[in-house]
Amino acid sequence: MLRFFPQKNKYIQEKGKFEFQSDQMIPKHIAIIMDGNGRWAQNRRLPRVAGHKEGMETVKKITKHASQLGVEVLTLYAFSTENWKRPTDEVDFLMQLPVDFFDTFVPELIKENVQVHVMGYKELLPKHTQDAVERAMEQTKDNDGMILNFALNYGSRAEIVSAMKEVYQEVATHGGDVETIDEELIADHLMTGFLPSELRDPELLIRTSGEERISNFLLWQIAYSEFFFTDALWPDFNESLLETAIASFQNRNRRFGGLEKEETK
Ligand code: FPP
Repeated sequence: MLRFFPQKNKYIQEKGKFEFQSDQMIPKHIAIIMDGNGRWAQNRRLPRVAGHKEGMETVKKITKHASQLGVEVLTLYAFSTENWKRPTDEVDFLMQLPVDFFDTFVPELIKENVQVHVMGYKELLPKHTQDAVERAMEQTKDNDGMILNFALNYGSRAEIVSAMKEVYQEVATHGGDVETIDEELIADHLMTGFLPSELRDPELLIRTSGEERISNFLLWQIAYSEFFFTDALWPDFNESLLETAIASFQNRNRRFGGLEKEETK
């Protein structure tokens, strides 16, 4: 049977193959495409929004666990610039979720020393969502533990276009020499530019629900990220699966385009 599902077979094997080691390298920045809320709900004959509500509980579990493992940045794709195309009821629900999430979870985030950040076109969010986001960022701004970075009304191509416009303006006001444009300048103007440069790019990108695509997420920042795809739907994702993803990362051979030491001999 598994013969017909080579990808699924791969992940089942991967789970058994690698043991999570908490004393080995923990990725500093993990990014997650939280997919499969709708299918989780449909499988239970529930409205799609029930999947988003359950997905919010998973966000709480994974945030706590990632922070306790020593992850420094956790970036979660909560709403894309394309998600406005969904039915109004679902969009309204998704815009209320951050309000409920921050209202119920900020005290715990403060206890965990987690700092909240939201990146995306925040000015286009409804006022109540913007207010909740601003409140959570303000209430956690002095925390110096893990950064919980929500991508909310975020799209990577739009982000790159915005960055290019800023770079153009900056270069034009400083004499117009295009040779001053380099990777660092572009990275400074992306929405991850608020992070220290060594933390801007996720080392590990996880996508749930069996889909294996990037969906306009962090296109610049994932140049050297390791990918981990799991069939688990987001509401079913849990601490143990996060450890499985990290265990897989710990067993990857990251060469960044170079060679291994022995290969250079
Ligand atoms: C994708 O599943 C999920 C989303 C578009 C929303 C993600 C939101 C959460 C996980 C809730 C937590 C958010 C906050 C801000 C606390 P889908 O609806 O595309 O699922 P499907 O592919 O099965 O239809």
